[in-house]
Amino acid sequence: MVDLLLGLQWGDEGKGKIVDVLTKNYDIIARFQGGPNAGHTLIFDGNKHVLHTIPSGIFHKNAINIVGNGVVIDPVIFKKELDNLANYDIDFSSKLLISRKAHVILPTHRLLDAASETAKGKAKIGSTLKGIGPTYMDKTGRNGFRIGDFELDNWKEKYDALTKKHLKMLSFFDVKIDYDLKELEEEFFIGVKRLKELTFIDSEEYLNQAMKNGKTILAEGAQGSLLDIDFGTYPFVTSSTTTAAGACTGLGIAPNKIGKVVGIFKAYVTRVGAGPFPTELFDECGKKMGEIGKEFGATTGRSRRCGWLDLVALKYAVEINGVTELSMMKGDVLTGFKTLKIATTYNYKGNEITHFPYNIEPQNVTVNYKNIKGWKSDITTARTIDDIPQNLKDYIKIIENFVGVPVRIISVGPDRKETIFV
Ligand code: GDP
Ligand code: IMO
Ligand code: MG
Repeated sequence: MVDLLLGLQWGDEGKGKIVDVLTKNYDIIARFQGGPNAGHTLIFDGNKHVLHTIPSGIFHKNAINIVGNGVVIDPVIFKKELDNLANYDIDFSSKLLISRKAHVILPTHRLLDAASETAKGKAKIGSTLKGIGPTYMDKTGRNGFRIGDFELDNWKEKYDALTKKHLKMLSFFDVKIDYDLKELEEEFFIGVKRLKELTFIDSEEYLNQAMKNGKTILAEGAQGSLLDIDFGTYPFVTSSTTTAAGACTGLGIAPNKIGKVVGIFKAYVTRVGAGPFPTELFDECGKKMGEIGKEFGATTGRSRRCGWLDLVALKYAVEINGVTELSMMKGDVLTGFKTLKIATTYNYKGNEITHFPYNIEPQNVTVNYKNIKGWKSDITTARTIDDIPQNLKDYIKIIENFVGVPVRIISVGPDRKETIFV
């Protein structure tokens, strides 16, 4: 069986931390979509690590980490990630396996991303500019360059042809992007050389065989449901399927092989980049969340927008993913707030609704809140459910009752140890 761990909001819910915490229960950790737009933070033994493409099980001796076919890989960033792990005794050639069917982000994909964003002007998405959109466009447009292509004798010809095409496409944009292709290619080819030292596999075959042999697999999502290409706040989304279905297509796993679906959410909400955010706070409360929660992007360093928990959106994400259990993160950040608010319905075009509608721009949606009493005592040292204040228990109960799924993990701090299993 394969269990899934997915973000239920706009990303950065704390997926990296929980995958790391859960890895001891699994033989294999597999990323199934996204690419270096992701930034997954792990903190243990006083050290902090941010992973972008490498699965978050990499620090566990016995786990095999797989980068699945649904992921897009930038060899430049990948090499940096490997270099950052050089002080750890990790046998990458046997513990980190790459799908031949994963697509490659070329330097010109990044340039196209930059040109596309600049050309949008005020309507820009706030992309991480890692080349994600253009790479997935080439994939679905059937022009992409795949990891397995590096095993061809003439891969360089294929690379050159695609790059040439991209340069032509760049000239179609009305904006000018400064770049030095020679410099970009130099670091790209160094990255490719390092990447080729790793083991490329037919990951769908590997994973299905592993399942037959009784191995346990955890699929690690990137981004979050509200950034999903179909179900997110389009067009302010990423270019992959971040929801449960993405694990099937991004790993070659059949739907009937999926076991638990762990949905992860923050006790409040954040969003980085542009796009609608109905419960966003522009006051002191939002500022306080951002400061206490250290809400800065793990990939871009941009500050994250903060707001109250939105149960309308959370329930939507629970439904489209078939979430079976929840992990609630960063409750500690809300300690000391006298009153907390939770969105329970939207006013949408004159009606009060309980579902997540087609369009959540501020001109269409306002929010109705329920007030809940906050708690004062520090919860970061809590290690069992009995250690947390009653008002936090009530907060969790309201969420569970609303979405109909139990909270099984409560995270009370960024460290591996700051975790309560219910
Ligand atoms: P991911 O992309 O879902 O893996 O999440 P990120 O790593 O981008 O962002 C989550 C941030 O919150 C990181 O800085 C984590 O170290 C931190 N974090 C995770 N869980 C908790 C928690 O329970 N409390 C606090 N205060 N920080 C947390
Ligand atoms: P993790 O896995 C938060 C956002 C960007 C932008 C939009 C499109 O760390 O949760 P893209 O680079 O994909 O073209 O950007 O999606 N975004 C994320 N926000 N966490 C992420 O990943 C994100 N990956 C992309 O900010 O709004
Ligand atoms: Mg992140």
